[in-house]
Amino acid sequence: MSQRSNFSSKIGFVLAAAGSAVGLGNLWRFPYLAAKYGGGTFLLVYLILAVTFGFSLMIAEIAIGRKTGLSAIGAFKKLDKRFGFLGVLAAIIPIIIFPYYSVIGGWVIKYFVTFVTGNVQAAADDAYFNNFIGTTGEPIGWFCLFIAFTSIIVLLGVEKGIETVSKFMMPVLVVLTVIIAGYGLTVDGAVDGLIYYVKPSMENFSGMTVIAAMGQLFYSMSLAMGIMITYGSYMKKDNNLESSVRQIEVFDTGIAFMAGLMIIPAVFAFSGGTAEQLGQGPGLMFVMLPKVFNSMPMGGAIGTLFFILVFFAALTSSISLMETIVSILRDKFHWSRKFTCIIVTVIALIMGIPSSLGFGIWSDITFLNLSILDAFDFLSNSILMPILAFFTCIFVGFVIKPKVVIDEVKSSDGTFKGEKLFVVMIKWIAPICLIAILVSSVGNAMGWWTI
Ligand code: TRP
Repeated sequence: MSQRSNFSSKIGFVLAAAGSAVGLGNLWRFPYLAAKYGGGTFLLVYLILAVTFGFSLMIAEIAIGRKTGLSAIGAFKKLDKRFGFLGVLAAIIPIIIFPYYSVIGGWVIKYFVTFVTGNVQAAADDAYFNNFIGTTGEPIGWFCLFIAFTSIIVLLGVEKGIETVSKFMMPVLVVLTVIIAGYGLTVDGAVDGLIYYVKPSMENFSGMTVIAAMGQLFYSMSLAMGIMITYGSYMKKDNNLESSVRQIEVFDTGIAFMAGLMIIPAVFAFSGGTAEQLGQGPGLMFVMLPKVFNSMPMGGAIGTLFFILVFFAALTSSISLMETIVSILRDKFHWSRKFTCIIVTVIALIMGIPSSLGFGIWSDITFLNLSILDAFDFLSNSILMPILAFFTCIFVGFVIKPKVVIDEVKSSDGTFKGEKLFVVMIKWIAPICLIAILVSSVGNAMGWWTI
């Protein structure tokens, strides 16, 4: 067996895991869900879930990886033969996410090009985005370009180079987000948006708030799909696992929060903050941000810089998604790297094109009232991930027992501050909540009841 390389330092580990975690989930997905499902109420629910549920699950996954030194499929099997199927389930999720993630990645390239060529004014128009995604060839072209970037990098194995670049760009992105959010808040009407975004109110609460927040938590922190197990397998024994998890969480949540701050007040400042505007879904970032840039001094340049940074954040995540799929297939079938990359690219193209067409000529095709892209998103985030998370909890809580994880956490310096919280969450609260969430979201989607 080949020797596993290790991250040389704790900060190296945290940055690598955060680099994979921070992506379109934070910048594109979080703001539109927060806008749609209750603003401050969503934010509060998300934060509570992150420090309890997200914390426990991430601890468990990284500990399993570090203990076994294997990625998901092997790790579950090694700890208990009967649970190998969890690894397989974990492998299916990135395969569903990767294609539609790349469709959004294509939209980002399109907006970058729009800004570079100085079409800020046009992009600020309400109809610009919908006209774009409604066409047939163009979004598919950008999608193919995004996939091409990703697969060439994975094929050549040069992701280290990209990671170095993007680690350097990440702080720039954070600074830029602060500037854009700061500017946005000075526009008339933005304060109402700020209040909507940070102030919880009971009337905005619904069952969907919890379901959406939970799905987003998995997605954003790359949980419940085996990625963190893989990362854990590369982590050194003497790095403190608990504080690493805290840092990844703070980083990931901080960026998501800033993205919301940049986009949601803008909905109020530029579009009046109607329920329809807030609830528009996947297009929110692409519709709102050009309006901000268009009204901002040097908006063209800032917008250009912004979209190139988002592109890099998306690219590092998509590389990590594709890399995961490739390594799983190679472990299983022993194909060459090149052949596997080609297969994965073809599958992603086949699955991604319908997601793209679902906003145009195939908009009549819906599943449970969701567009094709939203249906893939729903299937992975609201169905498969809760199922996998549920089994992971049961597996850790009752099969291998929490002690295995606790010992692994303590192996660095003997402490585990969140131990009690971890045990109660993983054995009882998380599995019960997950089942409740799963049942209610499926029922809601099937139209059996409304939550
Ligand atoms: N967490 C990533 C984001 O916020 C998306 C993502 C989901 C991901 N699963 C992943 C990234 C697996 C890398 C690997 O955009």
